[in-house]
Amino acid sequence: MTEEESHIESRMEGKDIYSPPEEFKEQANVNDPEIYKYAEENYEEFWADLAERLDWYEKWDEVLKWDPPHAEWFVNGKLNAAYNCVDRHVENGKGDKKALIWEGEPMDETKEYTFSELKDEVSKFANGLKELGVKKGDIVTFYLPMIPELAIGLLACARIGAPHSVVFGGFSPSALKERINDAESKFLVTADGYYRRGKVINMWENAEEALEGTSNVEKVIAVERIGRDDVEYEEGRDVVYEDLVKDQSKECEPEKMDAEDMLFLMYTSGTTGKPKGVVHTTGGYLTGTSATHNYVFDIKDDDIYWCTADIGWITGHSYIVYGPLANGTTTLMYEGAPDTPTKDRFWQIIEKYDVTKLYTAPTAIRLFMKWGREYPDKHDLSSLKVLGSVGEPINPKAWKWYHEVIGGGECPIVDTWWQTETGMMLITPLPGITDLKPGSATHPFPGLKADIYDAAGNSLEANQGGYLVIKRPWPSMLRTLYKEPERYVETYWSEYENDIYFAGDGARIDEDGYFWVVGRIDDVLNVAGHRLSTMEMESALVDHEAVAEAAVVGKPDEVKGQVPIAYVILESGREASDELASELRAHVGNIIGPIGKPAAVRFTRDLPKTRSGKIMRRILKKLEKGESAGDTSTLRNPDIVEEIREMVEE
Ligand code: WT7
Repeated sequence: MTEEESHIESRMEGKDIYSPPEEFKEQANVNDPEIYKYAEENYEEFWADLAERLDWYEKWDEVLKWDPPHAEWFVNGKLNAAYNCVDRHVENGKGDKKALIWEGEPMDETKEYTFSELKDEVSKFANGLKELGVKKGDIVTFYLPMIPELAIGLLACARIGAPHSVVFGGFSPSALKERINDAESKFLVTADGYYRRGKVINMWENAEEALEGTSNVEKVIAVERIGRDDVEYEEGRDVVYEDLVKDQSKECEPEKMDAEDMLFLMYTSGTTGKPKGVVHTTGGYLTGTSATHNYVFDIKDDDIYWCTADIGWITGHSYIVYGPLANGTTTLMYEGAPDTPTKDRFWQIIEKYDVTKLYTAPTAIRLFMKWGREYPDKHDLSSLKVLGSVGEPINPKAWKWYHEVIGGGECPIVDTWWQTETGMMLITPLPGITDLKPGSATHPFPGLKADIYDAAGNSLEANQGGYLVIKRPWPSMLRTLYKEPERYVETYWSEYENDIYFAGDGARIDEDGYFWVVGRIDDVLNVAGHRLSTMEMESALVDHEAVAEAAVVGKPDEVKGQVPIAYVILESGREASDELASELRAHVGNIIGPIGKPAAVRFTRDLPKTRSGKIMRRILKKLEKGESAGDTSTLRNPDIVEEIREMVEE
């Protein structure tokens, strides 16, 4: 950034205000700020009304049972998520409306499903799953690319009451294996491959490798996305998706699920090496995601809505599949990369389908900025009405570019803060009400209470940086961590009183009550919007025979937000070299997946440590940012700091 740019940026911080255009305000689903007061004072009624937007077999006896830190929402209510996402729209006369538009990476490949076609596909797959022995409560693991079968599969599971556990398709075999084993999953749905940047990625080989390390998987369903002829299926274990579904009945009675039955499991990185299995339930989750999707994107019946996330992450679960489909919205899915075949692919898709609402990540926006505005300028983007951002703080410069170049200066930007654990957006503008400040996620969703605490649990004054906390339960909050109930309490509800949710983010509230989230305060990195545990990367490094000790820290990056930097102490007798550095990067990539590859490996003879031997990652982080190391007097080996600084500066 030039001095002038950083000057502009700091001048803008918290200053510029964008009010919703009058015209937008008038037609918005919610435009009365009274909603905040109403929801705050009538919290349970507010959510009960939003739950009424869904179809229930049986209504609840109680909206919220809060026994901190355990919440139950819509107690004893009965519903089915797939019925709500699909069938009811058909019954309400929207059977011919497009539900799902899929765009493959190869330019000419597309598929579209109306709500009634989607209902048929979901039912057929659900019957196929049953035929293979999937029962209510069985966890089905998905390891799939962005193809329609993934969305259909989630809904098929929901239809029969089998929780799904989706593992991001870019994860490595060992990450997949770990998640299959932890969930004790007997069923895996995967594919022969997919397209990425014009190349075929052989997914099947990864799945096979993962399966070698598990004993619980009994059935594997293979979607033939590519139609390779070199895949060898195992008799009795493997079945091809097409063969499984082709003769299935289109009738499949949805299971009547309890509001608190698990809808899915989603693994996410935590501070320790072991991923956390976040448990989401049915009634509250669907209420929360559909309501926020409707309000935050100001959903209209003729919307073409596109969220560019992968369904392998929570954003895809909540805002490609469940939220939009529960609202009867046409949702678009894209298989491939933003620069394939050319750097205007996103804008071409928006023009082709007249996309009205776009939800993407700051890292993508920064990449587009770098490529230049000539790519979006080639296309008519005037169909766009609301632009969303999620995954990390959006810097004001990227915000303004998004607003002007993509939104033509007319679309409100909704910068939505939330987490895998929260299931739905918690801090977000409402586009017909909120005056926006570029870079701020603005205010808690109506009714929610959020605050900034210091370490002792005092609520901080305006503009003081501290820890973000949520002070009220919300319908789509995680209920527990799978098989780790104590870790649930420890991680989220033990920093302060047991009814205060500790988000793990640093933030401040400005003098106008706007929230500014800075980022994770724990050893979790946010690389291009993906959450990565430094501990996981460190254990992957020490798993290599040349490595004696390792520390991983995040370094600021213009496009990705942060990139991992690995510090490595070698075993004696091993020598540092560029080859070894690439070998170590590849090694971490193999264990975690390509997104976990360190951007650089720095060989060092020692690491800054306290007298008790704890690695001071904080110091490494500062050096990577080019800042002063601060107080090093408590270190056992302060002299190493200078040595590392020289290495970093080189
Ligand atoms: C972490 C959650 C659920 C969204 C996808 C990532 C960061 C997310 C924002 C935002 C600032 C954000 C936080 C959060 N984050 N959205 N709008 N502004 N930071 O889900 O992998 O569970 O990561 O992403 O640090 O804790 P996730």
